[in-house]
Amino acid sequence: MITCQAKVILNREVKPGYYLLRLVSPEIARKALPGQFALLRCSTKDLTDPLLRRPLSFHNVTKEQGEISFLYQVKGKGTKELTRFVPGDTVDTMGPLGKGFQLEPTKGPIAIIAGGVGVAPLVYLACMAHDKGNTVYTFLGARSTESLLADPDLVRASTRFFAATDDGTEGFCGNIIELLHKETNHLATCTAAYICGPEPVMAAAVSLCAKVGIPCQVSLESTMACGVGACLGCTCRTTRSHNYSRVCTEGPVFDGREVILDEKP
Ligand SMILES: Cc1cc2nc3c(=O)[nH]c(=O)nc-3n(C[C@H](O)[C@H](O)[C@H](O)COP(=O)(O)OP(=O)(O)OC[C@H]3O[C@@H](n4cnc5c(N)ncnc54)[C@H](O)[C@@H]3O)c2cc1C
Ligand code: FES
Repeated sequence: MITCQAKVILNREVKPGYYLLRLVSPEIARKALPGQFALLRCSTKDLTDPLLRRPLSFHNVTKEQGEISFLYQVKGKGTKELTRFVPGDTVDTMGPLGKGFQLEPTKGPIAIIAGGVGVAPLVYLACMAHDKGNTVYTFLGARSTESLLADPDLVRASTRFFAATDDGTEGFCGNIIELLHKETNHLATCTAAYICGPEPVMAAAVSLCAKVGIPCQVSLESTMACGVGACLGCTCRTTRSHNYSRVCTEGPVFDGREVILDEKP
């Protein structure tokens, strides 16, 4: 794990309330794997407010250029502060952290299933799978076209790209789970599925994967403090023997069968 002052080269609003932040950090870029994350100090002036660094997943990484990017939704104080950074500023960045996705060794088809900003950790994975020769079926859902985060790199990496919006303003009219039910023939051919989004969406996607008989991995979120396994502030419920796991070190990516997700919307 590396801590560095990473130089901002881009911090742009890509859709209302969603920003793409690109930083230069050759050391972190060299080591970062899909599904891992970094902790970013979001304050521009007062380093104690907000005090805790915020976790963001690697959205994409270009090892040759030494660049790491993050796709973030503006939620509260930290992410609002983060929007103030401009090219030339530096962001105190700690990473890579956590356990990422395990890409299947075979070149069989894989499914990328994302709800909302849950797409953030899956773009780097989709690009890597595409470069490895996998067929990539992407299923992306959002409330409307205004919040559908169809990243150009993700679209390029996808053999088939299926979008769903609740209001029907883009792609299939309905939610991502309804779209998955409609496209079960594609899902059932996959050797693995990789899922991130709101917990009820992940719970429904995990159970659909079980129904069609494919393994899946999910990327979880929780509030975080230390990010390195010391404070126990980020635990999630799992079926492992001690019932709880730390999202920051044992995750954020888990086997879909071992996490207990909140199914309530
Ligand atoms: C491993 C990991 C990877 C993540 N990757 C991304 C990403 O790529 N893009 C992205 O937009 N977001 C991501 N998140 C969520 C992101 O960290 C939170 O949205 C952010 O920390 C909120 O900080 P804030 O100061 O803006 O909001 P706060 O003022 O701290 O909180 C605003 C609201 O968000 C909730 N919240 C705070 N922290 C988290 C958290 N860690 N997870 C979920 N809800 C939280 C609070 O309960 C509150 O309701 C990730 C979280 C984790 C744990
Ligand atoms: S954030 Fe401290 S143990 Fe995970």
